[in-house]
Amino acid sequence: MSEIAFLLNGTPVQLSGIAPTRTLLDWLREERGLKGTKEGCNEGDCGACTVMVTDAGGSRVLNGCILFLPQLHGKAVCTVEGISAPDGRLHPVQQAMVDHHGAQCGFCTPGFVVSMATAHLNGQTDHDDTLAGNLCRCTGYAPIIRAAKAAETAPVPDWMQTDRAFILAQTSSGGEPPSAARGADSPPFFRPTNSDDLADWYLENTGATLIAGATDVGLWVTKHLRDLAPVAFLNGVTDLQQIERQGGMFHIGAGVTIAALRAFLEPHHPSFAELLRRYASEQIRNAATIGGNIANGSPIGDGPPALIALGAKLHLRRGDEMRSIPLESFFLDYRKQDRQAGEFVAGLSIPDSAPALRCYKLSKRFDQDISAVCGCFNLTVTDGKVTEARIAFGGMAGIPKRAAHAEAALLGQPFTEATARAAAAAMAQDFTPLSDMRASAAYRLTTAQNMVLRYLHDLNGMPVSVLGVQA
Ligand SMILES: Cc1cc2nc3c(=O)[nH]c(=O)nc-3n(C[C@H](O)[C@H](O)[C@H](O)COP(=O)(O)OP(=O)(O)OC[C@H]3O[C@@H](n4cnc5c(N)ncnc54)[C@H](O)[C@@H]3O)c2cc1C
Ligand code: FES
Ligand code: FES
Repeated sequence: MSEIAFLLNGTPVQLSGIAPTRTLLDWLREERGLKGTKEGCNEGDCGACTVMVTDAGGSRVLNGCILFLPQLHGKAVCTVEGISAPDGRLHPVQQAMVDHHGAQCGFCTPGFVVSMATAHLNGQTDHDDTLAGNLCRCTGYAPIIRAAKAAETAPVPDWMQTDRAFILAQTSSGGEPPSAARGADSPPFFRPTNSDDLADWYLENTGATLIAGATDVGLWVTKHLRDLAPVAFLNGVTDLQQIERQGGMFHIGAGVTIAALRAFLEPHHPSFAELLRRYASEQIRNAATIGGNIANGSPIGDGPPALIALGAKLHLRRGDEMRSIPLESFFLDYRKQDRQAGEFVAGLSIPDSAPALRCYKLSKRFDQDISAVCGCFNLTVTDGKVTEARIAFGGMAGIPKRAAHAEAALLGQPFTEATARAAAAAMAQDFTPLSDMRASAAYRLTTAQNMVLRYLHDLNGMPVSVLGVQA
């Protein structure tokens, strides 16, 4: 039997014989009677199911509705029931929610409180950012943000430190946090701790489902009721979670989360990092991996357009064989990728500098929304002429795709308004976008074309951020 061991509100839990795709949310409510963690959407959108998860890397919020129990092995989980002191004293954010009238129906409140307490623990004070993954339908955000601000200076209660202290003590003593075996599990799921084991197992189980952050796969279970067995969980494969700098390149493991990538990219590729700020929510970014974002082949994923504009190389592994391809050639057709049976995404490489890279995301909602159009631009101008052009879009075709005609219209030309307009016109030959619930085909093409001018203005230092628009 595959064993799962973790800490739940300070108490060790050991589970065996659990279905690998049993979600934490269902288990908490149905098996443990912990009903403070709510089910709103069951697809990672509303944050009513937010829990705090701690491991050696720190404490972060995750959505319990798309978090499978095996992903928690070796970690500490704190639900809303664990946010107040064991003797019932309120956490400062709870008290502030009371004082500032932060709840009406209260359905969203537990999720907000867990997000606020985790941000408070981590010293995060950008509440628009940290609460973007929590939806409230009746109170309105102003009192909630006021409560979060009011609690900022309160000391972190000692009971909020115990999970981290426990995990660190386990890790430094060389023990397995909190207990139980790791590595090769017997069916029905596999939990490798290194990519060699993963490669061997996947070669023998080519029909298996790989689960990284489960921000896509979770929905296959909660919304499509799919049976996924056999499955392998990748979140223990630490060698896929590294970022290294070598020879002018960053080598990024497939298991690096969007949150970790965003933090890393901030000083090197700030526009890409800003794009990732608008990638879903804190809860999703803490789970989702860049490898999953590429492997799922979505035409509207935010990672691929930026990475293609950077000229990323994708590294794939099958058994002992590695191969590297330009990222754009990985996407063959709608949801069809250049990936063989038993082959997985090991990582990617990008240049460590690209001063002209700019990324623009258009979506109906600023936060926590999938792109209608995502355009990423990266030009090299030498002696006043464009010598290299990489323009890639999401949301404009069945795959993330370069704008070849627009690029050709720029090459060899000075990057002026006239050339930008010519490139925008040429872009009509690159794409025949679809109309769907996010945007019409005409909107997509027009806004993508307008982005060429936006890019020109951006490089010329004019304000182009939607957050900077003044009435
Ligand atoms: C509420 C919500 C909001 C979202 N918002 C955005 C958004 O703004 N922008 C955006 O781009 N995406 C968004 N997504 C989609 C999702 O977060 C991404 O596609 C995510 O990056 C997938 O990564 P993961 O690690 O969670 O993958 P998983 O769900 O674990 O896996 C996704 C797919 O990739 C495969 N896979 C995973 N890792 C590997 C690997 N190393 N090798 C081979 N195959 C692998 C899995 O088998 C599966 O087919 C959102 C999702 C949700 C639920
Ligand atoms: S129930 Fe809505 S995010 Fe989990
Ligand atoms: S108080 Fe009702 S949803 Fe927030």
